[in-house]
Amino acid sequence: MYMGKSRTKISNREKPFWQVSVSAMRDSLCIEEPAPCVEDAILGEKGAIVPLHSQVGPEEQDAELGINPVYVRVARREIPRYKLPAEGMLPDTALQVVRDELILDGNARLNLATFVTTWMEPQAAQLMAECFDKNMIDKDEYPQTAELERRCVNILGDLWHAPAGSTAPGCSTTGSSEACMLGGMALLWRWRQRRRAAGLDTTWPNLVMGTNVQVCWEKFCRYWQVEPRQVPMVPDRLFLRGPEAAAQCDENTIGVVAIMGSTMDGSYEPVQEINDALDELYTERKVDIPIHVDGASGGFVAPFIQPHLQWDFRVPRVASINASGHKYGLVYPGVGWVVWRDEDALPEDLVFRVNYLGGDMPTFALNFSRPGGHVAAQYYNFVRLGFDGYRRVQQSCQDVAMYLSGEVAKLGPFELLSDGSDLPVFAFRLRDDVTAYTVFDLSERLRMRGWLVPAYTFPADLTDTAVIRIVIRNGFTMDLAGLLLDDLRRQIQCLDAHSQPHAPLVPPHQRQSFAH
Ligand SMILES: Cc1ncc(COP(=O)(O)O)c(C=O)c1O
Repeated sequence: MYMGKSRTKISNREKPFWQVSVSAMRDSLCIEEPAPCVEDAILGEKGAIVPLHSQVGPEEQDAELGINPVYVRVARREIPRYKLPAEGMLPDTALQVVRDELILDGNARLNLATFVTTWMEPQAAQLMAECFDKNMIDKDEYPQTAELERRCVNILGDLWHAPAGSTAPGCSTTGSSEACMLGGMALLWRWRQRRRAAGLDTTWPNLVMGTNVQVCWEKFCRYWQVEPRQVPMVPDRLFLRGPEAAAQCDENTIGVVAIMGSTMDGSYEPVQEINDALDELYTERKVDIPIHVDGASGGFVAPFIQPHLQWDFRVPRVASINASGHKYGLVYPGVGWVVWRDEDALPEDLVFRVNYLGGDMPTFALNFSRPGGHVAAQYYNFVRLGFDGYRRVQQSCQDVAMYLSGEVAKLGPFELLSDGSDLPVFAFRLRDDVTAYTVFDLSERLRMRGWLVPAYTFPADLTDTAVIRIVIRNGFTMDLAGLLLDDLRRQIQCLDAHSQPHAPLVPPHQRQSFAH
């Protein structure tokens, strides 16, 4: 962790999918050839979505994994699927066995569900491979990797307008979830310190945010026993605004989370407006509430394409900011960042010391060991692209997002909820008069061509609103956008042409694809 710039740091509708005849399904899918086994591709083995892995049941414990005879010298070989094989195999055989298992994974570049980087230059991939053996925590052994982390924290502090003269401490993390945990902990510790110093009760902390927050904030609240005060989304306000935030605050509020790039639709929350509403609250009731900006995506977008937007440390109440290096920071999955306004924003007793070049190095993390290659790759991107390179990448993503959202709006059945003018992300829903199919039907049919486009319902109070969200990332060109539009047009025509209800491709209870 670096303590500042100046220091060294799925009629057939009622039937379940598996009871629908192949010909009925083929008909509903508008395909002439026998339908591929789509449910396997989507759901994986046994059609189960496994959010958290558990031990397989007794009937599966001895299941075997057959190995293609071409890969082995013995005529036939099997290994246990869920137990450690008694003996090993040659590396090339192992490589092929594992690769064969992975071929049903989707094509990451066509994954318009994720915010996370799916393509880096080969040089960056090479650099990461060269650093696979470096452990980020071994600051003493890998001082130059530590130095690159320090430079990255300084670069981000500067990009996010840390106040002049501030040490703006910060660190790398495994992603924004960990970074949000650290930001939330600092808010909680500071609130407790203030309350204890005033001899006040510290049993009922709360954190104010919209229901559109990413799940990491609900986790934070549960893990740290903080009451989540969530402001519901309503049809004409899909994110948190100042007055609603301030109305939820009281003397037990540790902070307000403002999201720069709502996970639901990519819209930015008005940080300055929230700040101003909290100022009024202070004037009226003398409760002084800091803001944590969850810039998981926007932290790497706004500085480059919305430079005049006041959302970062220029806004006085912003105490800390997180961002995912592995989203619009353009690094493969595994790195996030968090920076605090100044040392006062980060309570000293959260900081641990590790040995560093004979001295001690302050660290703040939930993990201990972590790969060093991601930090090296972040720094690579900084020097490779510079400000103008990042600006061009993010601007081109936004150009594609705005073109695509504009064309989607012209298709007819859709209504845009956002257009990509904040994050290069937009969400749309079916107009109320379109009843022949759902966004889930459309999402599943797009998947037959390889497009991974999630359909999901909004959170509490807006759960009857189902949308499709498209995230445009580096590498998604105008050409790919044109191909996606062609497929969208084709599938809408197909769904319109079949006025009878369509057999879903996956069982209804498994259709919710949104998981970010
Ligand atoms: C606003 C927001 N916060 C936090 C996260 C969690 O980020 P990460 O996947 O880097 O842990 C996400 C992920 O999409 C997000 O969109």
